[in-house]
Amino acid sequence: MQLTLETERERGLRLIDEATSVEALDAAVTAVMGRKSAFSEVQRGLGGLPAEDRRRLGLVVNEARDALRAAEASRREGLQRAGEATLLAADRVDMSLPGRRPRAGSLHPLTLVEDLIVDVFLRLGFRVAEGPEIEDDWHNFQALNIPLDHPARTMKDSLYVAIPGHPELLLRTETSAVQVRTMRSQPPPVYVIAPGRVYRRETPDATHLPVFHQVEGLVVDEGITFADLKGTLEAMAKELFGEGRRVRLGPAYFPFVEPGAEIGVSCFRCDGVGCRVCGNGWIELLGAGMVHPHVLENCGYDAERYTGFAFGMGIERVALLRYSIPDIRLLVEGDSRFLAQFGGAA
Ligand code: FA5
Repeated sequence: MQLTLETERERGLRLIDEATSVEALDAAVTAVMGRKSAFSEVQRGLGGLPAEDRRRLGLVVNEARDALRAAEASRREGLQRAGEATLLAADRVDMSLPGRRPRAGSLHPLTLVEDLIVDVFLRLGFRVAEGPEIEDDWHNFQALNIPLDHPARTMKDSLYVAIPGHPELLLRTETSAVQVRTMRSQPPPVYVIAPGRVYRRETPDATHLPVFHQVEGLVVDEGITFADLKGTLEAMAKELFGEGRRVRLGPAYFPFVEPGAEIGVSCFRCDGVGCRVCGNGWIELLGAGMVHPHVLENCGYDAERYTGFAFGMGIERVALLRYSIPDIRLLVEGDSRFLAQFGGAA
């Protein structure tokens, strides 16, 4: 019996020492000192022994049990402390770590370009005018010297809207209607720009969209000449594209100006040679000209006393040229990898 007690005491101390969790410790204590253990069996056998043996072995039993209980208590405390330390470590907050920065969005390249154009003209003394995107036939065509049977209408594949009681409404094909609205709402002199969205039944390609943006410019005052138009557009082109890009001015026909002109900028990709982006080396930027006397008269202005110039520029085209964007459709696809490149651009 004494041998059993010594073996069990050694085994128990070893098991307690090896326990790596509270559960393993409980299992070790049950195995060594539980009701079915060899240790308990010895204890139960003590009663049948002679008095002298019972006393001597009783002391050994007590001493072994005290040693095992002491070992168990110290192991339990150690395990609990380790458990708390693990929990604390898991909960630890490292105050020295940098915070999570919220992802900042950026302005759309078209917004950037529009802001820039507006800024250039505000500095030249212009103000911003606005008009509706759904226009009537008179403002979009007739007042601009394009009567109902004029062939210029077929140059524009317009999108008409059917609103009962309002015949002849259409999505404006150009911002030029704002010229008419501005002149009819104020006397000369006029120095305005009008940025906005326009619509045409157009097949998209690298430089065309069916829904795009223009900025209209209109100046009406005494003594305004073609030289004022040319000077204004050259100053603008320099601001938008820098000195490196070449600008060309050619004749063009628009019913609401006389004479009419077109301004092209040398392609950022091929610099005037001709490529997939531009076709012939030049990207058409705007139409312009001297305001036709009929338009001035349609708006109630004295065409003998006042002259003026107007232009209509594609805002997407400015973005293509300024940021070397190879395809206009990138501007409307909403691909965040493309758009994220403009954070901080101007
Ligand atoms: C006009 O829209 C005239 N209203 C411009 C004007 C105003 C002339 C005032 C005279 C006086 P045009 O259709 O050429 O003209 O378009 C003007 C500019 O809009 C073009 O030079 C081009 O930069 C841009 N643009 C035209 N069509 C598209 C399109 N489908 N997608 C993107 N940009 C376009």
